[in-house]
Amino acid sequence: MSQSIPSADSQPGTPSAASEPASATDRATDNTTDPTSPGTGSRDRYAVIGNPIGHSKSPFIHARFAEQTGESIEYTHLLAPIDAFVLHVRAFVDAGGRGLNVTVPFKLEAHALATRLSPRAAAAGAVNTLRFEAGEIHGDNTDGFGLVRDIEVNLATPLKDARILLLGAGGAARGVVLPMLERAPHTLTIINRTDEKASALVDQFGAAAQAAGCRLSGGSAAAIEPGAYDVIINATASSLDAALPECDDGAFGSNTLAYDMMYGAQPTVFMRHAQTLGAQTADGLGMLVEQAAESFYIWRGVRPEGAPVLAELRRLLSASTAA
Ligand code: ATR
Repeated sequence: MSQSIPSADSQPGTPSAASEPASATDRATDNTTDPTSPGTGSRDRYAVIGNPIGHSKSPFIHARFAEQTGESIEYTHLLAPIDAFVLHVRAFVDAGGRGLNVTVPFKLEAHALATRLSPRAAAAGAVNTLRFEAGEIHGDNTDGFGLVRDIEVNLATPLKDARILLLGAGGAARGVVLPMLERAPHTLTIINRTDEKASALVDQFGAAAQAAGCRLSGGSAAAIEPGAYDVIINATASSLDAALPECDDGAFGSNTLAYDMMYGAQPTVFMRHAQTLGAQTADGLGMLVEQAAESFYIWRGVRPEGAPVLAELRRLLSASTAA
């Protein structure tokens, strides 16, 4: 099989964020898009825009989705200078582009640029999917959907009535709160090193939690409730510097799924810690694939299967460590 795709060559010990396809590492560097280029043939044009972008796995994932569904699309990388995101988006649209995935550092700018926002993008305060139609710029955020689908479908762990502990209160955490509440968990506890940011999320999502019948609370690690949680999600950036976010060992049990939104060739520090406490673990590679599948659905109205693409990426990731 060709390796001209994201060959999943993450350096061991340097995880990437599932919610940020640009930070995924691969060797595909030859198809960065010129936003003004008309593209090839009659295929509808899509791209992932970010900075840096050359190592995104998104072109590989969407090529697989296109094969799977028979949709005729072209999907490439688009590198935008830090100060020229809007310019590059407009050039892409003028050249006939139909949609963009947006990654670091442009998700907030994409949110500001959208002329229409989905409720989940409005709640997240960030946009990772743009769709261009009839002069409108539709902004959506599929990161939380991707996380929920990976946990519930790929990892067969229901969130309904679950006790969930969310570590972190930055953009990655905020993006997943509403989609998780929509699954009607029993409890959602949000804790963060800077506890006021966790409390602010509790305030922001209080009404949504009430509507879902979920007990939402949070703040510092002292807010962690006694007993093992069903799911613990690490949405902090701590794995990037191989650090362990503050938690409570008592929150981990043998039936706990400890999920790190980062992924890499090796288990993260958080995953290894959870394993020593007897918990089940998962990284964010499945979230990366499933957020892409939801973007594909938004653009094409056809839902691709994430699982086979996830399995292929996982094999490549393992092969890259073995090499
Ligand atoms: P992102 O958009 O990726 O979430 P962010 O908004 O900078 O990035 O948020 C990073 C999150 O990781 C925050 O919750 C941060 O905690 P603070 O709000 O206290 O800064 C958390 N974080 C980063 N490094 C951490 C570490 N070593 N231990 C615990 N939490 C960490």
